[in-house]
Amino acid sequence: MCGIVGYIGAEEAAPILLDGLARLEYRGYDSAGLAVFSPAQGLQVVKAKGRLSVLSGIVDGGSALHGTVGVGHTRWATHGEPSDVNSHPQVSASGRIAVVHNGIIENYVQIKEFLASKGVHFVSQTDTEVVAHLLEYYYEGDILEAVSKVLHRIEGAYALGIICADCPDRLIAARKDSPLILGYGEGFNFLASDVTAVIKYTRDVCYLEDGEIAVLTKDAIQVYSHPYLQPVEKERHHVDWEISAAEKGGYEHFMAKEIMEQPKAFHDTISPRIQDGRVVLEGLDLDGDYLRRMDKIYIIACGSSYHVGMVAKYILEKALRKPVEVALASEFRYCDPLVTRDTLCIVISQSGETIDTMAALREAKRRGATILSIVNVVGSSIARESDYVLYTWAGPEIAVATTKAYSTQLALIYLITLRFAELLGTMAEEERRAVIDELRTIPGKMQKILDDRESIQYYASIYFNHESIFFIGRNIDYAIGLEGSLKLKEISYIHSEAYAAGELKHGTISLIEEGTLVIALASCAPLFDKLVSNIVEVKSRGADVLGLTVESKGEDLKKVVDNAILVPDTHPMLLPSLDVIPMQLFAYYVALMRGCDIDKPRNLAKSVTVE
Ligand code: G6P
Repeated sequence: MCGIVGYIGAEEAAPILLDGLARLEYRGYDSAGLAVFSPAQGLQVVKAKGRLSVLSGIVDGGSALHGTVGVGHTRWATHGEPSDVNSHPQVSASGRIAVVHNGIIENYVQIKEFLASKGVHFVSQTDTEVVAHLLEYYYEGDILEAVSKVLHRIEGAYALGIICADCPDRLIAARKDSPLILGYGEGFNFLASDVTAVIKYTRDVCYLEDGEIAVLTKDAIQVYSHPYLQPVEKERHHVDWEISAAEKGGYEHFMAKEIMEQPKAFHDTISPRIQDGRVVLEGLDLDGDYLRRMDKIYIIACGSSYHVGMVAKYILEKALRKPVEVALASEFRYCDPLVTRDTLCIVISQSGETIDTMAALREAKRRGATILSIVNVVGSSIARESDYVLYTWAGPEIAVATTKAYSTQLALIYLITLRFAELLGTMAEEERRAVIDELRTIPGKMQKILDDRESIQYYASIYFNHESIFFIGRNIDYAIGLEGSLKLKEISYIHSEAYAAGELKHGTISLIEEGTLVIALASCAPLFDKLVSNIVEVKSRGADVLGLTVESKGEDLKKVVDNAILVPDTHPMLLPSLDVIPMQLFAYYVALMRGCDIDKPRNLAKSVTVE
């Protein structure tokens, strides 16, 4: 995780770097630092534990630091606690070379021992410090040569930004397994962890590939391949989303804004892909023969994306009559997965950079599977390494807790299901058309739930003091419960668990006592009565039940629960898109009432680029 940014140009660098870091803070926010060079003052490094605002205060919004070239960093600690000294940039012993790093240098202990034997004194507990010292060890007047030698020695994942006081007319960038983009300006250039950091200044970017090194001067960017330093021609991409997409736009939190953006994001994701009443998936040329041969679908993801996979399993299996397995990416890699050349792996990732998901993708590919990824960030590593990619058109998602990315991932699952069902002939034409028609109504129905958000706010005000909350449901309601529970715990810090309602009696029901809050999801019509039985079971043990169902079942549900949330009726396959919104709103309002830092919950980061 961690965010890095570098600027070289004619303006004062520090305010620009701070502005870039503010947009990268979602990647980590336990400490931050800057290194800026000026001919008069040399290389100046300022670092501070805490949020970026602490650093910004120390350097007076950047105006206390002079120089037109520099690098900055916002950290999510891996090696060494959050502290001033462990913050980046890490600097070589002479103070000439400063390094910002995202990733983990896995062999740092061996390198540290080697350098210590040469008399190098270490001041931090970070893995990154070895890079700064090793650069100095190899530096003989050519910083590019030194970087190249260092890359020979280090193992692990890295996006690096490097500045050297001996050659302040250039910045060096290098990457392996951690994201890094370069931004092209007129008379200035950038390196950064993602485009949000540079979009205010330039929309022309390129994505650095693994094993590439870039030299940035204020007028040019030259990329080389490692290890032979062969020049590489990079393709430039134009980023066309508006900068306002990465700003709060009047909302108190990014999460609130992103929840409210869901109808549009859902619409933007489905509408270009529905043509003449049929689903058209760009570039996805898997045909009926392939799908009939396909032995199974393996869905691989982490966190909320994994929860989309859980919903997808129910939907795809029902519609395609093919086995679907869902795996946590971090487990998939090490379970000797049963993947064949006829397996389709659907890899789901908002960021497209989650390292566990990336590694699982490579493992599946190595075993011969076909990879179809669902990704939000255009040009991200997972998108580039997949055989096929379908983008969610959610726009930039900044809040750590995902909402609109989740909803648009679901939208693509529906489209994939409909297209595959058409090719396999497993869903009657009439039903397929009916689902497609209904799909178009989902944004309006989402909006209806959002317009009634005050009722969810009211329930949050009743329940925000609970210290343990259970979610129960069956089938897709269970999958939505998993996501509702994760949303709640990640931003409100309330202990919460999601259970398949029928499983509760096999142990967990012992935790239900007088006043325990149980959120019962009962939107699946065929299982409604079963769920009612489970609700009655927990109520007779003292639980307070907040239920959720569709409007047509509202009166029945109200008879057995203490409070009820109703969502519009829709086709059963599409219900998750409506059910999840009250769960997101509930988590948001509970966290708000508990005074939590909603967009930047403790210990978390949005883009997880460490194993
Ligand atoms: C982090 C985020 C989660 C996200 C997960 C997977 O843990 O906090 O919100 O679901 O990573 O991220 P991805 O970008 O691969 O979807």
